[in-house]
Amino acid sequence: MIEESPPCRPQDFGKFEIVDRDGAARIGKIHTNHGILTTPTLLPVVNPNILTVEPREMWDKFGFRALITNSYVIWKHEKLREKALEEGVHELLNFPGVIMTDSGTFQSYVYGDVEVGIEEIVEFQRDIGVDIGTMLDVFGRPDMTREEIEAAVDTTANRANASLSSAGEKLLLNGPIQGGTHQDLRAESSSRMAASEVGGRGFSVHPIGGIVPLMETQRYSDLFSVILSSMSALPSDRPVHIFGCGHPLLFPLCIALGADLFDSAAYALFAKDGRILSEEGTHRIDSAVEWPVSSRYLEDYTPREVREMDKKSRTALLARHNLEVTQRELSRCREAIRNGSIWNLAERRSHASPHLRKAFKQVLEAIQDGPEIPSGRRMASIISSTDPVRPSSEPFSEDVSKRPHIIHAGTLLENRWKLPGSWWDGSTGPPSSVVILHGSNPPWRTAYGSVVAEILQDEPKTAIFVKTPLGLIPYSLEDLSPWCRIEGNDDSIPGDPNLKESYIRLDRLSLDKIPLEYRIASDSDIMMKNEIRAWLDRCSTVDRLAVLCGVKPSDGCRITDGMNVRHSKTGRPVNVLSKDRHLFSPRLNDGGISLALEGAKAIHSLMDIQPPLGFSNHQENHLQTHPGIARVTIHSDAIPFVGAGRNVMHGFVIGADEWITVGQPCLVVDENGTLVAHGNSNSTMHEMSVLRKGVAVRIREGALP
Ligand code: GUN
Repeated sequence: MIEESPPCRPQDFGKFEIVDRDGAARIGKIHTNHGILTTPTLLPVVNPNILTVEPREMWDKFGFRALITNSYVIWKHEKLREKALEEGVHELLNFPGVIMTDSGTFQSYVYGDVEVGIEEIVEFQRDIGVDIGTMLDVFGRPDMTREEIEAAVDTTANRANASLSSAGEKLLLNGPIQGGTHQDLRAESSSRMAASEVGGRGFSVHPIGGIVPLMETQRYSDLFSVILSSMSALPSDRPVHIFGCGHPLLFPLCIALGADLFDSAAYALFAKDGRILSEEGTHRIDSAVEWPVSSRYLEDYTPREVREMDKKSRTALLARHNLEVTQRELSRCREAIRNGSIWNLAERRSHASPHLRKAFKQVLEAIQDGPEIPSGRRMASIISSTDPVRPSSEPFSEDVSKRPHIIHAGTLLENRWKLPGSWWDGSTGPPSSVVILHGSNPPWRTAYGSVVAEILQDEPKTAIFVKTPLGLIPYSLEDLSPWCRIEGNDDSIPGDPNLKESYIRLDRLSLDKIPLEYRIASDSDIMMKNEIRAWLDRCSTVDRLAVLCGVKPSDGCRITDGMNVRHSKTGRPVNVLSKDRHLFSPRLNDGGISLALEGAKAIHSLMDIQPPLGFSNHQENHLQTHPGIARVTIHSDAIPFVGAGRNVMHGFVIGADEWITVGQPCLVVDENGTLVAHGNSNSTMHEMSVLRKGVAVRIREGALP
């Protein structure tokens, strides 16, 4: 008997939890009867009749915690079927981890009909102890007519309830999405499959099916349009599996769009054909003199020595190389999620193939499809699920301005930043001049501090902006990322300011008729007057509260009236205080703002008392101008814990504002609107409405005595 991986806690069975994220890309955990599976991950396809690499070796040496095999193949072969029914599928394959099975749909696509019944194949998967089974869906080939694809979507959805009933309590089930390349049918398939439920239990995972022919012919633009549209109607608590996708080249973009699971026989099929995988493509070994990609398996041989091996040994060696490369790229992707660079990685990989490059550009443009089209809706939700402010550097590239978190940050700046209502000398009214600072690299306060002092001393009513590779930003936000984090030399900064590309535009701010001057850094060492510095500190606090927290600038001004600031040794504001009460801490690493309890109370005291109850369905509200700081309403059971400073866990949220922003400050309130705590959101409103495990809000301080 093999020692199987221990099950998850009974109360967590079947749940999906998000533990880290970069927008829609997520590090997740799927809780199963054979352990907690960390995603994104790939499940190698194991054919029980041909074991190119033993499953046990995949577990021991390669660290695969899950594999996929075909229940129809086991069911069809008497010997395998009997052993599986007697001893279980884990014993049959000698694999201690999570076993997923497919249902025979793919065989019906390749060979025509299968002989097994809809309930029969699910019951069989249940009876052999599979962890995640698959219902018998209908494969919608891209070359089918629209009517045939409609029928595939409809029949698959109509089989859902019978399949869920047959699965029983212990078998988690895949609910595949079909719909060919028709975006509307993909969205319809997702809604119907996600809504299917029997006795309170729905599908645990949604694979995107019918896409193998697109990958085989490198129709990547169609592939990613299918992925975007299929995900447009899936709830965030369901992991998404990309059926049949196993080329490492495709992982980063799939993951950036929200994919959690992959499966593929590519490692074995390519090996049999004398081809090796790399994260940038596939290489034939038949004419290679040196290895274009390395692994510990190839290290000891030259390509020629491998060519001279007998076919079985060669296939086994190349398959192991392919598995290692696959695992390495998945590690890289997970790490990129953790450090906020998954789009950067997807962009780098896109240059490896013209088909992928075209698809990548199309994905970046999908936001232009608009909310009526599923791909446009999905892209909008990817953008709004990003943390707009992050401490990491931002490598400059042709596509930098299209990265979702940069669009998110830019849109918040465009919608929420307003000119100051009054100037450092107490005067009010519109500015009488505009200055654009240019020519220096960040930190801009160091480069431009003296010239700013000079300009404001001469003319207090001056609107000052900094020209950055991503357009203009107000000087008050000079240390806000991503603008201050763009990594690139002066060549990457266009000579002429292209104000049309900028989120801050002088015409939109009615500044285009006001005298404009361009200034560069000055080497004068003029000291900034205290009044000017205090005014700049206040502007930068009010502006951060407006742009990142949605606080009306007039409210921000009220809260910061009479504020004083404690500066760091290098002169940067670190604590904002009012009458010795600590209100806010500007964040030095990314230019964001953290609330202190007194600041949270002050903002809360300005708000309408009615808290959000339930979860609205208006995505467009996400970018309201100044909706006020986002609030999360929690269940009474959680109040003593959260009020004492513990995190808000999913499952205890009973309402949230739709504009809540991942990574940014929010208030936690009870059903009467009373402040319970404040923290930073880990999740979007939609996630709070469906997830049942994991942290929803990371609490900074409880507000209860
Ligand atoms: N394997 C690859 N594609 C598919 C699909 O569409 N459905 C099922 N069940 N398995 C697949």
